Amino acid sequence: MTKTISKRNLAYLVAGVAIILLNTISCKKENNRNEPGPGPGEHPVPNNPSAPNLPGTLYDYVGTRNNMPPYMQAFMNANPTLDNTPAGNPITNAGATLGRVLFYDKSLSLNNTKSCGSCHHQDKAFTDGVARSEGFEGKVTRRNSMPVVNLRFFRLATMFWDMRAKDLETQTLMPIQDHIEMGMPSLAALETKLAGISYYPPLFKAAFGSEAVTSDKIARALSQFLRSIVSFNSRYDQGVATQFSNFTPAEKNGLRLLQVDFCTECHSDLSTSQPGQTSSFLIVDNTGLNTGIGSNNGLESNYTDKGIGEITNKPADQGTFKIPSLRNVALTAPYMHDGRFATLEDAIEHYSTGIKQNPNIGIQFSGMQNEGLLFSAKDKSDIIAFLKTLTDQSLVTDPKYADPFK
Ligand code: HEC
Ligand code: HEC
Repeated sequence: MTKTISKRNLAYLVAGVAIILLNTISCKKENNRNEPGPGPGEHPVPNNPSAPNLPGTLYDYVGTRNNMPPYMQAFMNANPTLDNTPAGNPITNAGATLGRVLFYDKSLSLNNTKSCGSCHHQDKAFTDGVARSEGFEGKVTRRNSMPVVNLRFFRLATMFWDMRAKDLETQTLMPIQDHIEMGMPSLAALETKLAGISYYPPLFKAAFGSEAVTSDKIARALSQFLRSIVSFNSRYDQGVATQFSNFTPAEKNGLRLLQVDFCTECHSDLSTSQPGQTSSFLIVDNTGLNTGIGSNNGLESNYTDKGIGEITNKPADQGTFKIPSLRNVALTAPYMHDGRFATLEDAIEHYSTGIKQNPNIGIQFSGMQNEGLLFSAKDKSDIIAFLKTLTDQSLVTDPKYADPFK
Protein backbone atom coordinates (compact mmCIF):
# COMPACT_ATOMS: atom_id res chain seq x y z
CA MET A 1 0.00 0.00 0.00
CA THR A 2 2.62 2.52 1.12
CA LYS A 3 4.79 1.34 -1.72
CA THR A 4 2.13 2.02 -4.34
CA ILE A 5 1.43 5.44 -2.94
CA SER A 6 5.04 6.53 -2.90
CA LYS A 7 5.48 5.20 -6.42
CA ARG A 8 2.46 7.19 -7.46
CA ASN A 9 3.81 10.34 -5.81
CA LEU A 10 7.09 9.80 -7.57
CA ALA A 11 5.24 9.51 -10.86
CA TYR A 12 3.55 12.82 -10.14
CA LEU A 13 6.78 14.46 -9.26
CA VAL A 14 8.32 13.33 -12.52
CA ALA A 15 5.20 14.29 -14.48
CA GLY A 16 5.06 17.67 -12.71
CA VAL A 17 8.67 18.49 -13.51
CA ALA A 18 8.21 17.37 -17.11
CA ILE A 19 5.18 19.62 -17.46
CA ILE A 20 6.90 22.63 -16.01
CA LEU A 21 9.77 22.08 -18.45
CA LEU A 22 7.35 21.63 -21.33
CA ASN A 23 5.46 24.77 -20.38
CA THR A 24 8.63 26.80 -20.21
CA ILE A 25 9.72 25.48 -23.56
CA SER A 26 6.37 26.12 -25.20
CA CYS A 27 6.23 29.66 -23.82
CA LYS A 28 9.72 30.30 -25.16
CA LYS A 29 8.68 28.95 -28.54
CA GLU A 30 5.75 31.35 -28.68
CA ASN A 31 8.04 34.24 -28.04
CA ASN A 32 10.54 33.22 -30.67
CA ARG A 33 7.91 32.97 -33.32
CA ASN A 34 8.33 36.57 -34.51
CA GLU A 35 4.87 37.42 -33.32
CA PRO A 36 4.10 41.10 -33.22
CA GLY A 37 4.39 42.61 -29.79
CA PRO A 38 7.19 43.00 -27.31
CA GLY A 39 9.68 40.23 -26.65
CA PRO A 40 10.66 39.07 -23.19
CA GLY A 41 12.34 41.74 -21.19
CA GLU A 42 10.98 44.67 -23.22
CA HIS A 43 7.31 44.21 -22.33
CA PRO A 44 5.72 47.33 -20.90
CA VAL A 45 6.18 47.54 -17.15
CA PRO A 46 3.46 49.78 -15.82
CA ASN A 47 5.16 52.96 -14.66
CA ASN A 48 2.68 53.73 -12.02
CA PRO A 49 0.32 50.91 -11.17
CA SER A 50 -1.88 52.28 -8.43
CA ALA A 51 -0.89 50.96 -5.04
CA PRO A 52 -3.24 48.49 -3.35
CA ASN A 53 -5.48 49.62 -0.51
CA LEU A 54 -4.38 47.67 2.54
CA PRO A 55 -5.79 47.92 6.06
CA GLY A 56 -3.73 49.67 8.77
CA THR A 57 -3.98 46.59 10.96
CA LEU A 58 -3.45 43.43 8.93
CA TYR A 59 -6.40 41.11 8.51
CA ASP A 60 -6.30 37.89 10.48
CA TYR A 61 -5.39 35.10 8.06
CA VAL A 62 -3.59 32.95 10.61
CA GLY A 63 -6.79 32.37 12.56
CA THR A 64 -9.05 31.36 9.67
CA ARG A 65 -8.79 27.71 10.54
CA ASN A 66 -9.93 28.45 14.09
CA ASN A 67 -13.18 29.81 12.71
CA MET A 68 -14.14 26.43 11.34
CA PRO A 69 -17.16 24.91 13.13
CA PRO A 70 -16.43 22.41 15.92
CA TYR A 71 -17.50 19.35 13.90
CA MET A 72 -15.07 20.33 11.18
CA GLN A 73 -12.27 20.97 13.68
CA ALA A 74 -12.88 17.50 15.11
CA PHE A 75 -12.83 16.02 11.61
CA MET A 76 -9.57 17.81 10.81
CA ASN A 77 -8.00 16.74 14.10
CA ALA A 78 -8.89 13.13 13.32
CA ASN A 79 -7.28 13.51 9.89
CA PRO A 80 -4.14 15.53 10.64
CA THR A 81 -2.52 14.86 7.27
CA LEU A 82 -5.43 16.42 5.40
CA ASP A 83 -4.12 19.95 5.95
CA ASN A 84 -1.46 20.34 3.28
CA THR A 85 0.27 23.37 4.85
CA PRO A 86 3.98 22.51 4.69
CA ALA A 87 6.15 23.04 7.78
CA GLY A 88 8.27 25.46 5.75
CA ASN A 89 5.39 27.75 4.78
CA PRO A 90 2.96 28.42 7.61
CA ILE A 91 0.44 31.22 7.06
CA THR A 92 1.44 34.60 8.48
CA ASN A 93 -0.74 37.68 8.24
CA ALA A 94 1.98 39.61 6.36
CA GLY A 95 2.61 36.67 4.02
CA ALA A 96 -1.05 36.19 3.14
CA THR A 97 -1.44 39.98 2.71
CA LEU A 98 1.36 39.92 0.12
CA GLY A 99 -0.35 36.89 -1.42
CA ARG A 100 -3.62 38.79 -1.67
CA VAL A 101 -1.91 41.68 -3.49
CA LEU A 102 -0.16 39.27 -5.88
CA PHE A 103 -3.42 37.38 -6.50
CA TYR A 104 -5.20 40.52 -7.69
CA ASP A 105 -2.28 42.24 -9.48
CA LYS A 106 -2.48 42.31 -13.27
CA SER A 107 1.25 43.07 -13.36
CA LEU A 108 1.76 39.31 -12.96
CA SER A 109 0.72 38.86 -16.60
CA LEU A 110 2.93 39.72 -19.56
CA ASN A 111 0.77 42.59 -20.83
CA ASN A 112 -0.79 43.63 -17.50
CA THR A 113 -4.28 42.50 -18.48
CA LYS A 114 -4.90 39.47 -16.23
CA SER A 115 -4.52 38.71 -12.56
CA CYS A 116 -5.34 35.43 -10.86
CA GLY A 117 -8.51 37.21 -9.75
CA SER A 118 -9.52 37.75 -13.40
CA CYS A 119 -10.47 34.06 -13.59
CA HIS A 120 -11.17 33.47 -9.90
CA HIS A 121 -13.84 36.01 -8.80
CA GLN A 122 -14.68 36.19 -5.11
CA ASP A 123 -18.42 36.69 -5.77
CA LYS A 124 -18.49 33.41 -7.72
CA ALA A 125 -16.69 31.45 -5.01
CA PHE A 126 -13.48 32.16 -6.95
CA THR A 127 -14.61 30.84 -10.33
CA ASP A 128 -15.44 33.08 -13.30
CA GLY A 129 -18.84 32.16 -14.71
CA VAL A 130 -17.68 31.07 -18.17
CA ALA A 131 -17.07 27.61 -19.60
CA ARG A 132 -13.49 28.44 -20.53
CA SER A 133 -11.59 31.53 -19.39
CA GLU A 134 -9.97 34.18 -21.51
CA GLY A 135 -6.23 34.53 -21.04
CA PHE A 136 -3.90 37.52 -21.44
CA GLU A 137 -4.02 37.53 -25.24
CA GLY A 138 -7.67 36.58 -25.58
CA LYS A 139 -7.06 32.88 -26.15
CA VAL A 140 -9.25 30.60 -24.07
CA THR A 141 -8.14 28.04 -21.51
CA ARG A 142 -8.67 24.36 -22.14
CA ARG A 143 -10.84 23.76 -19.10
CA ASN A 144 -13.26 25.41 -16.68
CA SER A 145 -11.89 27.64 -13.92
CA MET A 146 -11.95 26.01 -10.48
CA PRO A 147 -12.91 27.49 -7.09
CA VAL A 148 -9.76 28.17 -5.04
CA VAL A 149 -11.50 27.48 -1.73
CA ASN A 150 -10.55 25.04 1.07
CA LEU A 151 -7.45 24.17 -0.95
CA ARG A 152 -5.45 23.55 2.21
CA PHE A 153 -7.54 20.43 2.79
CA PHE A 154 -6.77 18.68 -0.48
CA ARG A 155 -4.21 15.93 -0.45
CA LEU A 156 -0.88 16.50 -2.15
CA ALA A 157 -0.78 16.10 -5.92
CA THR A 158 -4.45 16.93 -6.44
CA MET A 159 -4.31 20.43 -7.92
CA PHE A 160 -6.09 21.04 -11.26
CA TRP A 161 -8.79 18.98 -12.95
CA ASP A 162 -6.10 16.49 -13.98
CA MET A 163 -4.23 16.76 -10.65
CA ARG A 164 -1.01 17.62 -12.46
CA ALA A 165 0.45 19.97 -9.83
CA LYS A 166 2.51 18.41 -7.07
CA ASP A 167 1.46 20.95 -4.43
CA LEU A 168 0.14 24.49 -4.06
CA GLU A 169 3.60 26.07 -3.98
CA THR A 170 4.28 24.52 -7.41
CA GLN A 171 0.78 25.24 -8.71
CA THR A 172 0.77 28.98 -8.00
CA LEU A 173 3.68 29.68 -10.40
CA MET A 174 2.14 27.67 -13.26
CA PRO A 175 -0.64 30.09 -14.39
CA ILE A 176 1.87 32.98 -14.40
CA GLN A 177 4.02 31.17 -16.97
CA ASP A 178 1.17 29.49 -18.83
CA HIS A 179 1.21 30.79 -22.38
CA ILE A 180 -2.58 31.09 -22.49
CA GLU A 181 -3.31 32.36 -18.98
CA MET A 182 -0.73 35.02 -18.00
CA GLY A 183 2.22 34.50 -20.37
CA MET A 184 5.25 35.63 -18.35
CA PRO A 185 8.27 34.31 -20.28
CA SER A 186 10.24 33.26 -17.20
CA LEU A 187 10.35 33.49 -13.45
CA ALA A 188 13.40 35.76 -13.75
CA ALA A 189 11.33 38.20 -15.85
CA LEU A 190 8.58 38.07 -13.23
CA GLU A 191 11.03 38.81 -10.41
CA THR A 192 12.59 41.77 -12.25
CA LYS A 193 9.19 43.17 -13.13
CA LEU A 194 7.76 43.02 -9.60
CA ALA A 195 10.98 44.32 -8.02
CA GLY A 196 10.48 47.47 -10.12
CA ILE A 197 7.00 48.16 -8.72
CA SER A 198 7.32 50.44 -5.72
CA TYR A 199 4.84 48.77 -3.36
CA TYR A 200 6.40 45.31 -3.58
CA PRO A 201 9.78 45.53 -1.82
CA PRO A 202 8.20 46.68 1.49
CA LEU A 203 5.52 43.98 1.24
CA PHE A 204 8.18 41.31 0.64
CA LYS A 205 10.17 42.65 3.57
CA ALA A 206 7.16 42.54 5.89
CA ALA A 207 6.34 39.00 4.79
CA PHE A 208 9.77 37.40 4.53
CA GLY A 209 12.27 39.71 6.24
CA SER A 210 14.03 41.02 3.14
CA GLU A 211 13.01 43.18 0.20
CA ALA A 212 14.35 40.75 -2.39
CA VAL A 213 11.62 39.62 -4.81
CA THR A 214 12.05 35.94 -5.61
CA SER A 215 9.75 33.46 -7.31
CA ASP A 216 10.03 31.19 -4.30
CA LYS A 217 8.58 33.94 -2.08
CA ILE A 218 5.90 34.70 -4.69
CA ALA A 219 4.83 31.05 -4.65
CA ARG A 220 4.86 30.91 -0.86
CA ALA A 221 2.88 34.13 -0.42
CA LEU A 222 0.25 33.13 -2.99
CA SER A 223 -0.05 29.73 -1.32
CA GLN A 224 -0.50 31.31 2.10
CA PHE A 225 -3.29 33.52 0.79
CA LEU A 226 -4.99 30.59 -0.95
CA ARG A 227 -4.71 28.39 2.15
CA SER A 228 -6.35 31.13 4.20
CA ILE A 229 -9.48 30.92 2.03
CA VAL A 230 -11.71 28.51 3.90
CA SER A 231 -15.46 28.18 3.65
CA PHE A 232 -17.43 26.60 6.49
CA ASN A 233 -20.08 29.16 7.23
CA SER A 234 -22.99 27.85 5.20
CA ARG A 235 -26.53 27.00 6.25
CA TYR A 236 -25.38 23.38 6.03
CA ASP A 237 -22.72 23.97 8.68
CA GLN A 238 -25.27 25.74 10.87
CA GLY A 239 -27.61 22.79 10.29
CA VAL A 240 -25.05 20.30 11.53
CA ALA A 241 -24.85 22.25 14.78
CA THR A 242 -28.65 22.33 15.24
CA GLN A 243 -29.82 18.87 14.05
CA PHE A 244 -30.87 20.60 10.84
CA SER A 245 -33.69 22.50 12.58
CA ASN A 246 -32.89 25.34 10.16
CA PHE A 247 -33.62 23.11 7.14
CA THR A 248 -36.85 22.93 5.15
CA PRO A 249 -38.29 19.44 4.46
CA ALA A 250 -37.12 19.80 0.84
CA GLU A 251 -33.54 20.54 1.91
CA LYS A 252 -33.55 17.59 4.35
CA ASN A 253 -34.81 15.29 1.64
CA GLY A 254 -32.17 16.61 -0.77
CA LEU A 255 -29.41 15.72 1.71
CA ARG A 256 -30.94 12.26 2.18
CA LEU A 257 -31.00 11.73 -1.59
CA LEU A 258 -27.33 12.71 -1.92
CA GLN A 259 -26.47 10.04 0.65
CA VAL A 260 -28.72 7.21 -0.56
CA ASP A 261 -27.65 7.81 -4.17
CA PHE A 262 -23.96 7.69 -3.19
CA CYS A 263 -23.21 11.25 -4.31
CA THR A 264 -21.48 11.78 -0.95
CA GLU A 265 -19.19 8.78 -1.48
CA CYS A 266 -17.49 10.79 -4.20
CA HIS A 267 -18.19 14.39 -3.17
CA SER A 268 -17.44 14.03 0.56
CA ASP A 269 -15.17 11.85 2.63
CA LEU A 270 -16.13 8.20 2.50
CA SER A 271 -16.13 7.72 6.26
CA THR A 272 -19.10 10.05 6.76
CA SER A 273 -20.91 9.51 3.49
CA GLN A 274 -23.72 7.20 4.61
CA PRO A 275 -27.34 8.17 5.39
CA GLY A 276 -27.73 9.83 8.77
CA GLN A 277 -24.03 10.64 9.08
CA THR A 278 -22.63 14.16 9.11
CA SER A 279 -20.93 14.48 5.75
CA SER A 280 -18.12 17.02 5.66
CA PHE A 281 -18.54 17.84 1.97
CA LEU A 282 -14.81 18.21 1.85
CA ILE A 283 -13.63 16.27 -1.13
CA VAL A 284 -11.49 13.17 -0.90
CA ASP A 285 -9.93 10.86 -3.40
CA ASN A 286 -11.84 7.65 -3.66
CA THR A 287 -8.88 5.36 -3.99
CA GLY A 288 -10.02 1.83 -3.30
CA LEU A 289 -13.52 2.51 -4.52
CA ASN A 290 -12.65 3.22 -8.10
CA THR A 291 -10.01 2.09 -10.55
CA GLY A 292 -7.99 5.28 -10.65
CA ILE A 293 -7.23 8.13 -8.27
CA GLY A 294 -9.72 10.67 -9.55
CA SER A 295 -13.10 9.64 -10.74
CA ASN A 296 -15.46 9.48 -13.66
CA ASN A 297 -19.13 10.40 -13.59
CA GLY A 298 -20.12 9.19 -17.06
CA LEU A 299 -20.16 12.37 -19.10
CA GLU A 300 -18.94 10.56 -22.22
CA SER A 301 -18.41 7.03 -23.44
CA ASN A 302 -15.19 8.02 -25.18
CA TYR A 303 -13.27 10.91 -23.68
CA THR A 304 -11.39 13.34 -25.91
CA ASP A 305 -9.99 15.07 -22.82
CA LYS A 306 -8.28 12.19 -21.01
CA GLY A 307 -7.96 14.18 -17.75
CA ILE A 308 -5.75 12.49 -15.19
CA GLY A 309 -4.95 9.77 -17.72
CA GLU A 310 -3.15 12.29 -19.89
CA ILE A 311 -0.72 12.85 -17.00
CA THR A 312 -0.30 9.28 -15.71
CA ASN A 313 -0.79 7.41 -19.00
CA LYS A 314 -2.51 4.65 -17.04
CA PRO A 315 -5.52 2.99 -18.65
CA ALA A 316 -7.48 3.21 -15.39
CA ASP A 317 -7.08 6.98 -15.26
CA GLN A 318 -8.29 7.76 -18.80
CA GLY A 319 -11.27 10.13 -18.66
CA THR A 320 -11.04 10.58 -14.88
CA PHE A 321 -10.93 14.00 -13.23
CA LYS A 322 -10.52 15.54 -9.81
CA ILE A 323 -13.82 15.32 -7.96
CA PRO A 324 -14.95 18.90 -7.35
CA SER A 325 -16.23 20.05 -3.99
CA LEU A 326 -19.95 20.78 -3.85
CA ARG A 327 -19.43 23.60 -1.35
CA ASN A 328 -20.68 26.86 -2.91
CA VAL A 329 -21.69 24.91 -6.03
CA ALA A 330 -24.68 27.24 -6.55
CA LEU A 331 -22.14 30.01 -7.26
CA THR A 332 -19.74 28.12 -9.52
CA ALA A 333 -21.66 27.59 -12.78
CA PRO A 334 -21.05 26.48 -15.47
CA TYR A 335 -20.23 22.93 -14.40
CA MET A 336 -17.80 20.06 -15.12
CA HIS A 337 -14.20 20.22 -16.37
CA ASP A 338 -15.32 21.75 -19.66
CA GLY A 339 -18.17 23.88 -18.32
CA ARG A 340 -20.64 21.91 -20.44
CA PHE A 341 -23.62 22.40 -18.11
CA ALA A 342 -24.87 25.98 -17.71
CA THR A 343 -27.06 25.36 -14.66
CA LEU A 344 -27.36 23.11 -11.64
CA GLU A 345 -30.57 21.77 -13.19
CA ASP A 346 -28.55 20.60 -16.22
CA ALA A 347 -25.90 19.01 -13.99
CA ILE A 348 -28.52 17.09 -12.00
CA GLU A 349 -30.29 16.04 -15.21
CA HIS A 350 -27.00 14.41 -16.22
CA TYR A 351 -27.13 12.19 -13.13
CA SER A 352 -30.83 11.53 -13.73
CA THR A 353 -30.82 10.54 -17.40
CA GLY A 354 -27.44 11.28 -19.00
CA ILE A 355 -24.89 8.84 -17.57
CA LYS A 356 -22.81 7.07 -20.21
CA GLN A 357 -21.04 3.85 -19.37
CA ASN A 358 -17.30 3.73 -20.02
CA PRO A 359 -14.48 1.52 -18.77
CA ASN A 360 -13.45 3.87 -15.94
CA ILE A 361 -16.85 4.98 -14.66
CA GLY A 362 -17.14 5.21 -10.87
CA ILE A 363 -18.39 2.00 -9.25
CA GLN A 364 -21.41 3.94 -8.02
CA PHE A 365 -22.63 4.03 -11.62
CA SER A 366 -21.03 1.03 -13.29
CA GLY A 367 -23.38 -1.49 -14.85
CA MET A 368 -26.44 0.67 -14.19
CA GLN A 369 -29.54 -0.50 -16.05
CA ASN A 370 -30.60 3.03 -17.04
CA GLU A 371 -28.67 6.04 -18.17
CA GLY A 372 -28.98 7.56 -14.75
CA LEU A 373 -30.81 7.58 -11.44
CA LEU A 374 -34.17 8.63 -12.94
CA PHE A 375 -35.00 11.32 -10.41
CA SER A 376 -38.56 12.61 -10.12
CA ALA A 377 -39.14 16.34 -10.59
CA LYS A 378 -39.41 16.64 -6.80
CA ASP A 379 -36.15 14.71 -6.24
CA LYS A 380 -34.36 17.12 -8.57
CA SER A 381 -35.69 20.27 -6.96
CA ASP A 382 -34.99 18.87 -3.46
CA ILE A 383 -31.40 18.05 -4.42
CA ILE A 384 -30.92 21.57 -5.75
CA ALA A 385 -32.55 23.05 -2.63
CA PHE A 386 -30.04 21.10 -0.56
CA LEU A 387 -27.05 22.08 -2.72
CA LYS A 388 -27.93 25.73 -2.15
CA THR A 389 -27.50 25.24 1.61
CA LEU A 390 -23.78 24.75 0.92
CA THR A 391 -23.43 28.41 -0.12
CA ASP A 392 -21.31 30.51 2.23
CA GLN A 393 -22.23 34.20 1.92
CA SER A 394 -19.45 35.30 4.26
CA LEU A 395 -16.85 33.84 1.88
CA VAL A 396 -18.00 35.99 -1.00
CA THR A 397 -18.17 39.21 1.00
CA ASP A 398 -15.19 38.88 3.37
CA PRO A 399 -12.96 41.95 2.77
CA LYS A 400 -9.80 40.01 3.57
CA TYR A 401 -10.26 37.98 0.39
CA ALA A 402 -11.32 40.97 -1.75
CA ASP A 403 -9.48 42.83 -4.52
CA PRO A 404 -7.26 45.47 -2.85
CA PHE A 405 -6.87 47.39 -6.11
CA LYS A 406 -10.56 48.34 -6.19
C1 HEC B 1 -6.99 32.90 -17.66
C2 HEC B 1 -7.69 32.38 -16.49
C3 HEC B 1 -6.90 32.01 -15.27
C4 HEC B 1 -5.94 32.75 -14.61
C5 HEC B 1 -5.37 34.10 -15.00
C6 HEC B 1 -5.59 31.98 -13.44
N1 HEC B 1 -6.32 30.82 -13.39
FE1 HEC B 1 -6.28 29.44 -11.93
N2 HEC B 1 -7.42 28.19 -13.04
C7 HEC B 1 -7.94 28.51 -14.26
C8 HEC B 1 -8.43 27.30 -14.92
C9 HEC B 1 -9.07 27.23 -16.29
C10 HEC B 1 -8.18 26.23 -14.03
C11 HEC B 1 -8.41 24.75 -14.28
C12 HEC B 1 -7.26 24.35 -15.19
C13 HEC B 1 -7.07 22.86 -15.36
O1 HEC B 1 -7.42 22.08 -14.50
O2 HEC B 1 -6.49 22.46 -16.39
C14 HEC B 1 -7.55 26.84 -12.84
C15 HEC B 1 -7.18 26.13 -11.71
C16 HEC B 1 -6.56 26.70 -10.61
C17 HEC B 1 -6.25 25.99 -9.39
C18 HEC B 1 -6.55 24.53 -9.06
C19 HEC B 1 -7.65 24.39 -8.04
C20 HEC B 1 -7.98 22.98 -7.69
O3 HEC B 1 -8.94 22.76 -6.94
O4 HEC B 1 -7.29 22.04 -8.13
C21 HEC B 1 -5.62 26.89 -8.56
C22 HEC B 1 -5.08 26.65 -7.15
C23 HEC B 1 -5.51 28.14 -9.28
N3 HEC B 1 -6.10 27.99 -10.52
C24 HEC B 1 -4.89 29.28 -8.80
C25 HEC B 1 -4.53 30.35 -9.62
C26 HEC B 1 -3.56 31.36 -9.25
C27 HEC B 1 -2.80 31.43 -7.94
C28 HEC B 1 -3.47 32.21 -10.31
C29 HEC B 1 -2.56 33.42 -10.46
C30 HEC B 1 -1.14 33.20 -10.27
C31 HEC B 1 -4.41 31.74 -11.32
N4 HEC B 1 -5.01 30.60 -10.87
C32 HEC B 1 -4.62 32.38 -12.53
C33 HEC B 1 -7.99 29.76 -14.83
C34 HEC B 1 -7.11 30.78 -14.50
C1 HEC C 1 -18.19 8.24 -9.06
C2 HEC C 1 -18.03 9.45 -8.33
C3 HEC C 1 -19.17 10.45 -8.38
C4 HEC C 1 -20.46 10.27 -7.94
C5 HEC C 1 -21.06 9.04 -7.31
C6 HEC C 1 -21.12 11.54 -8.14
N1 HEC C 1 -20.26 12.44 -8.70
FE1 HEC C 1 -20.68 14.38 -9.13
N2 HEC C 1 -18.86 14.56 -10.00
C7 HEC C 1 -17.88 13.59 -10.05
C8 HEC C 1 -16.80 14.03 -10.91
C9 HEC C 1 -15.53 13.25 -11.22
C10 HEC C 1 -17.16 15.32 -11.37
C11 HEC C 1 -16.37 16.17 -12.37
C12 HEC C 1 -16.53 15.48 -13.72
C13 HEC C 1 -15.89 16.18 -14.88
O1 HEC C 1 -15.84 17.41 -14.90
O2 HEC C 1 -15.45 15.48 -15.82
C14 HEC C 1 -18.46 15.62 -10.76
C15 HEC C 1 -19.15 16.84 -10.92
C16 HEC C 1 -20.34 17.16 -10.28
C17 HEC C 1 -20.96 18.46 -10.32
C18 HEC C 1 -20.39 19.69 -11.00
C19 HEC C 1 -19.49 20.44 -10.03
C20 HEC C 1 -18.65 21.50 -10.66
O3 HEC C 1 -18.12 22.34 -9.89
O4 HEC C 1 -18.45 21.54 -11.88
C21 HEC C 1 -22.12 18.38 -9.59
C22 HEC C 1 -23.11 19.49 -9.32
C23 HEC C 1 -22.22 17.01 -9.10
N3 HEC C 1 -21.12 16.32 -9.54
C24 HEC C 1 -23.25 16.52 -8.32
C25 HEC C 1 -23.41 15.19 -8.01
C26 HEC C 1 -24.63 14.60 -7.48
C27 HEC C 1 -25.88 15.38 -7.11
C28 HEC C 1 -24.40 13.26 -7.37
C29 HEC C 1 -25.36 12.17 -6.94
C30 HEC C 1 -26.55 12.07 -7.76
C31 HEC C 1 -23.05 13.01 -7.81
N4 HEC C 1 -22.48 14.19 -8.21
C32 HEC C 1 -22.45 11.77 -7.82
C33 HEC C 1 -17.93 12.37 -9.42
C34 HEC C 1 -19.06 11.82 -8.86
